[in-house]
Amino acid sequence: MAEKVLVTREIPEAGLRVLEPFDVTVLHERPPERDELLAAVRGASGILSTATETMDEEVMDAAGEGLRVIANMAVGYDNVDVKAAGERDVVVTNTPGVLDETTADVAFMLMLAAARRLGEGERLLRAGTWEWWGPKQLMGRDVWGKRLGIVGFGRIGQAVGRRARGFGMEVLYHNRSRREEAEREVEARYMDLDELLDTADFISIHTPLTPETVHLIGAEELRRMKPETVLVNTSRGPVIDEAALADALAERRIFAAGLDVYENEPEVHPKLLELENLVLAPHIGSASVETREKMAALAAENLAAVLRGEEPKTPVNE
Ligand code: DGY
Repeated sequence: MAEKVLVTREIPEAGLRVLEPFDVTVLHERPPERDELLAAVRGASGILSTATETMDEEVMDAAGEGLRVIANMAVGYDNVDVKAAGERDVVVTNTPGVLDETTADVAFMLMLAAARRLGEGERLLRAGTWEWWGPKQLMGRDVWGKRLGIVGFGRIGQAVGRRARGFGMEVLYHNRSRREEAEREVEARYMDLDELLDTADFISIHTPLTPETVHLIGAEELRRMKPETVLVNTSRGPVIDEAALADALAERRIFAAGLDVYENEPEVHPKLLELENLVLAPHIGSASVETREKMAALAAENLAAVLRGEEPKTPVNE
């Protein structure tokens, strides 16, 4: 009898095709309610989850002893209790490598849009209140030739750095450990975090969410930034203290920000919604057709490999 697989959300066909040999249940497009998830995982040998589902002990225990793999369709896996999975011999996998360039595009898009005040301009047009071209109208900040500080110099951070070189930017980075090969490839300069915050004109966040990175950028860090600084986050919302960011933007202590991720998704801090100098996107970093197909296929291949007794391509735990 085919093994039972639960896919927690509707995913691109490329992933479902890989799972054809299994007895697959696909929930729906919106995230499942917790009770629904707990009922649906019962008896599953594999779960293909996304970043919106919390995969904790309760879910694993609800699945039962036959659970062997949780394949998260995301590079981030802060929604999965990897320790609890290990204790139950459940393999956890993620989807690194296939979304780097696409997410870097969105980071760059937010940098450009925030610096050049695209959101304000679009709102003006849509409201029908654009009356004339003006010599002082909507003056933003140049991106080209400026200093970009990348916090978290993994694959996505490096992809942002490569784009920045094309804009003639000077690239600075901070990472837990130095990445000397990537430094040479991107022509980036390592800095400690405080120095980077003091120096950069643009700051782009690419750290994973871990207990150490929660509110890595808080009131104190925002106070270090220059009034011209543009801050962008495409990693995970809790890395920035949203209330502190809202204050810094409202008081014009930094120039602008661009956010793709939020502390309590899908909620956005109400103060942020009132700000003109902020560009908001609804967690679309990896949302291109090509990349979401690759993510779905990789997650499904990982899941299928474990159920066939093979090594998955991108495991998170041993
Ligand atoms: C990721 O891959 O981590 C994206 O943020 C989607 O969850």
